[in-house]
Amino acid sequence: MMARAASGTRKDFLSVLDFDGADLDRCLELAAQVKADRPLGRQAPTANALEGRHVAMLFEKASLRTRSTFEIAVHELGGHVVALHPDAALGQREPVADVARNLERWFDAVVIRTFSQRLLQEFAAAAPRLHVVNALSDSEHPCQAVADMLTLREQWGTLRGRTIAYVGDGNNVAVSLAHAATIMGAHVHVASPDGYQLPDGAVQQATSVARHGARLRLFNDAIDAVAGADAIYTDTWTSMGQESEAILRRDIFSPYQVNEALMSLAKPNALFMHCLPAHREEEVTADVLESAASVVFDQAENRLHGQKALLLMLLSGAPAR
Ligand code: CP
Ligand code: NVA
Repeated sequence: MMARAASGTRKDFLSVLDFDGADLDRCLELAAQVKADRPLGRQAPTANALEGRHVAMLFEKASLRTRSTFEIAVHELGGHVVALHPDAALGQREPVADVARNLERWFDAVVIRTFSQRLLQEFAAAAPRLHVVNALSDSEHPCQAVADMLTLREQWGTLRGRTIAYVGDGNNVAVSLAHAATIMGAHVHVASPDGYQLPDGAVQQATSVARHGARLRLFNDAIDAVAGADAIYTDTWTSMGQESEAILRRDIFSPYQVNEALMSLAKPNALFMHCLPAHREEEVTADVLESAASVVFDQAENRLHGQKALLLMLLSGAPAR
């Protein structure tokens, strides 16, 4: 955890927990700055920050937002992207450690979307000069959490003392949200059915990294979790790789749908959040998703700015400005 590269910057971003509170604060500041500078195009102060740097993309699962925003981020920072074929790089042809040691001879960083968090850790451990970024694993989705924190910071100024209620599966998105929000000083309520709650390890981690008195609480009942919430967050009931469980999950999670009735039990101006893709009339109704409370496309936009900040922090030792 928290490996530092020779320059003193973090080497990898496999988990929100690879950043401490100061890192996350700095990342969000930088993200806000690159967002403000984006209209400057090639005149932006960071437009050449990754000149001569190469970033590999290795995606074993589908992606719209993460892939697009990483490719645009590297391009707008003056770097170069190569999309690798996952069958060649993470298939049976050679051990993961060998792939990692090949890539570090050519690339500065690799952005990986895969199933196993352990594979990401193996990759990062095998290649001490290669920056490894988790673009989603079965257990965590830390880049999403950076965009989510940026979105809330824009809405609220500070997250301190706010309450975010996550309703649904205690999955990868929920874990990274719990990590990041408690670091930022927000209380997190997670409502899930038995057997689908946030893993114990994630609860302990979020509790130990929490700042400014933030608390994490688990609930069974969505109604209890959203009382007093400033934002309600949900995600798909069936994550990538769980498709064979979709019918069972639709049944188990139906009491956890975010609809107008549930939104009305949160604070009056509560926001609605979703990492997308959304499934209308499953985890969220169309009216909530399309309502004025919904910030889902801000979250999607902020993937770009958050990931630019991450790349700057990992790859360029010096501050961006
Ligand atoms: N939210 C998110 O990660 O979207 P993609 O799966 O499209 O990358
Ligand atoms: N929990 C979802 C998130 C997709 C961005 C999944 O893993 O499929």
